[in-house]
Amino acid sequence: MSLVAARDHVRNNLLEFTRTAFSMIPPIDNPCILDIGCGTGVQTIELAKISNGKVTAIDIDAKALDILRHKAKDAGVSDRISIMELSMLKLNNLNEIYDIIWAEGSIFIVGFENGLRDWKRLLTRDGFLVVHDEDTDVDTKLQLIEKHGYQEIGLIEISHDEWWKKYYAPLGNLLGKMGINGDNEKSLKDEINMFRKTRMGSIFFILQSKS
Ligand SMILES: C[S@@+](CC[C@H](N)C(=O)[O-])C[C@H]1O[C@@H](n2cnc3c(N)ncnc32)[C@H](O)[C@@H]1O
Repeated sequence: MSLVAARDHVRNNLLEFTRTAFSMIPPIDNPCILDIGCGTGVQTIELAKISNGKVTAIDIDAKALDILRHKAKDAGVSDRISIMELSMLKLNNLNEIYDIIWAEGSIFIVGFENGLRDWKRLLTRDGFLVVHDEDTDVDTKLQLIEKHGYQEIGLIEISHDEWWKKYYAPLGNLLGKMGINGDNEKSLKDEINMFRKTRMGSIFFILQSKS
């Protein structure tokens, strides 16, 4: 099993938080959702299933998007997921607006404040933004949320221990059983060391754009 496949497998263990975050948004019929930095699309497929809407999934990693393409077909949701190889730095290439923007593990690429500010114009009036980000500088992030005209609908915290139990421990076990090669082993060990050192946890911010 490749490292990418193993990550994809254990990434499913965090989907319960995606589902809880989605359930905090008031019901919308067949919403249009933009998934920014979708990766291999674990949350993209779940969003397509639970929303009964259409998801536009963007990323710059063509290999990850291929994996998503295959998984969407297997899950029977490929007609409701539009996959685009597009940088989040070029979102002005999108001509639509969205009821919901979803960004798990990706807003740090543009910066939390830039994301809040620049993505708002892609939202419908009173649309929703869900951001899953590290649990650092939370007070500053909450101030920026207010400053850029969003209302907080809810927060979901995922503690360091939960990350360990649900992601890193099963990932380590899986790779231990399946085998992992030299470079991948080193990069995973470095990542786990960094995870332990920083005591990282994360937060879902469920936000609504204020008109
Ligand atoms: C930590 S992963 C998160 C993937 C997925 N959202 C998840 O939660 O499993 C960050 C993703 O952002 C993507 N990414 C990095 N730079 C990007 C850019 N400029 N535009 C779009 N996606 C980008 C990476 O390829 C990667 O798939």
